[in-house]
Amino acid sequence: MYFIANWKMYGNLSSLNSLDKVIKFSKSKEINKGRLIYCPPYTLISSFSKKFQNCQIGIGAQNCHENDDYGPHTGFINPRMLKNIGAQFVIIGHSENRKKGENDSLINLKIKSALKAKLKVIFCIGETLIEKKRKKTRLILSRQIKNGLKNIKNNSNIFIAYEPVWAIGTGIIPKSNDLLKTVEFIKNKFKKKKPRVLYGGSVSSENIKNLKKINNIDGYLIGGASQNSKKFIDIVKKTYS
Ligand code: PGA
Repeated sequence: MYFIANWKMYGNLSSLNSLDKVIKFSKSKEINKGRLIYCPPYTLISSFSKKFQNCQIGIGAQNCHENDDYGPHTGFINPRMLKNIGAQFVIIGHSENRKKGENDSLINLKIKSALKAKLKVIFCIGETLIEKKRKKTRLILSRQIKNGLKNIKNNSNIFIAYEPVWAIGTGIIPKSNDLLKTVEFIKNKFKKKKPRVLYGGSVSSENIKNLKKINNIDGYLIGGASQNSKKFIDIVKKTYS
C-alpha cells in the first residue's frame, strides 16, 4: 500500500522537525508493507530528500512544467530539475490545478515529460459534484484517462489517484460500494497491465477503518491529515491493524 502525503501550499523549514516521528516509524515493523511518500512544496523537496537519506521514505513534487528541458519559462520548474534535487515522484492533474486552467492535453504533456525524466507519476482524476449529480462520473473519468494518457504506451510508472473533487478537504468520502465500483471501472480501462489506483479526498485516521475494507485500492493520497505526523502515522497503523 502507498501512503502519499500531499502537503499542498503548506510547510516551511521548521516543518522538518515534525518528520522525525515519521522517520522513526518508517523503520518500525508496524509499517508492514506500506510505502510512504512525501510531496512537499517545491521549496522543501531538497531538504526533505536529505532528511530521508537513510530511510525508505520517497519524495515527490506536486506539479511540474510540461517541458522536460531547460528554457525561458519564468517561475516554472521542469521534471529534470525535480529529479536533480531528489524527487522520484510527481503529482500531475490535481483538481486544484485543473480548476486553474490545466486541461487534459496540458496534463498529457506534463505526464510525458515527467516520465521522460524518469519520475513516477501520480495522475489525479476525479469528477466534480455537479458531474456526479448528473451521473457523469464514468464519462468524466474515461475522458480524463483517455486524454491524459494519450500516446503513452507503458503505464508501469503511473499511479492513478482517484480524487472526487467533492471529497477533497470536505470531510466527505464516497460510499464504500461506489468507491469499490469506480476503482474497478478505472482498472478495467486498462486492458493489459492494470495500474495501481489510489484514493484521495478527506482520508483520515477516523475513516481509514472503512476505506481499508475496499480491497481494490492500492493506497491513499492524503492532504490535510498528512501535515500532522501523528495523524499520518495513525492512518498507516490503522490500515494494518
Ligand atoms: P484532503 O486532500 O486529504 O485534504 O482532502 C487530498 C488531496 O487534495 O490530494
